[in-house]
Amino acid sequence: MLTAKSLFQEIIDDDESFRLFCSIAASGESQGGWENARIAALVAPGMRELAPKITRHGADEDKHGRIFNALLKKRGLEPVPVPPETDYTMLLEQRGIGLAHDKLRREEPLTEADIVVYLAHSRVTEQRAADQMDMLVTYFGDHPELGRAIHMIDNDEANHLAYCHEELLRLAREGHGRLIQRTLRESALAEIQVYRDVSLAVMGHMGRILNWPRPKAAALAAGIRGMYAYERLAGWHKMVGLRMPERRDALGVPPPEAGGGPATPAPAY
Ligand SMILES: [Fe+2]
Ligand SMILES: [Fe+2]
Repeated sequence: MLTAKSLFQEIIDDDESFRLFCSIAASGESQGGWENARIAALVAPGMRELAPKITRHGADEDKHGRIFNALLKKRGLEPVPVPPETDYTMLLEQRGIGLAHDKLRREEPLTEADIVVYLAHSRVTEQRAADQMDMLVTYFGDHPELGRAIHMIDNDEANHLAYCHEELLRLAREGHGRLIQRTLRESALAEIQVYRDVSLAVMGHMGRILNWPRPKAAALAAGIRGMYAYERLAGWHKMVGLRMPERRDALGVPPPEAGGGPATPAPAY
């Protein structure tokens, strides 16, 4: 039977598909790292207190990129170029979601509205990241090669999501509520489309690498479209609500005795 678990198992077992999977993941994570580092550097003057958390967020994403590259190296594989149609971060940027890279390359400080938009966009994309990592932990949390990496990334993504909720609730109280609601809605509706398109593109590549028979590829594509239909109808609401998280100050710097510091190090990688 075709399940998410059997599908990922196949992708992980074959070097060529594993190589593409890790390359796409590493590239998305590093782009996230770069974006956050730039946002931290340009943070609106009135919001400087957020800078260390944004820096920490970026450092975590960079670390995830390094972890995926290390997984490749462990198998003696080199990363491959990421096909543009599978580049989730770039496609979102092209849809005008989040902050434009042009803006981040300049040396002008961002506005408070920019920071609100960045956080709302992150609340949506971190939800996706956290859900995907939860799925991987469920199926491969005990995997000898991947388990540790997956658990570590999963924990970080849950922190990122908690941080977005908490900061957005604070900014909503400070009067940014309408901008937050509008941006969350726009980001979520664009994200579910980009996610569908990227999923179809990734599975197209995987199908060619793994020689999937036509009916299998067709069933998968139908599954991805079905998931989009569900998300468009109802699922997207999950991406736009705000709730005070159980983990407070998830990206704050706890005292060193509590193991705090910038980005939890990943010694094994
Ligand atoms: Fe990440
Ligand atoms: Fe993240």
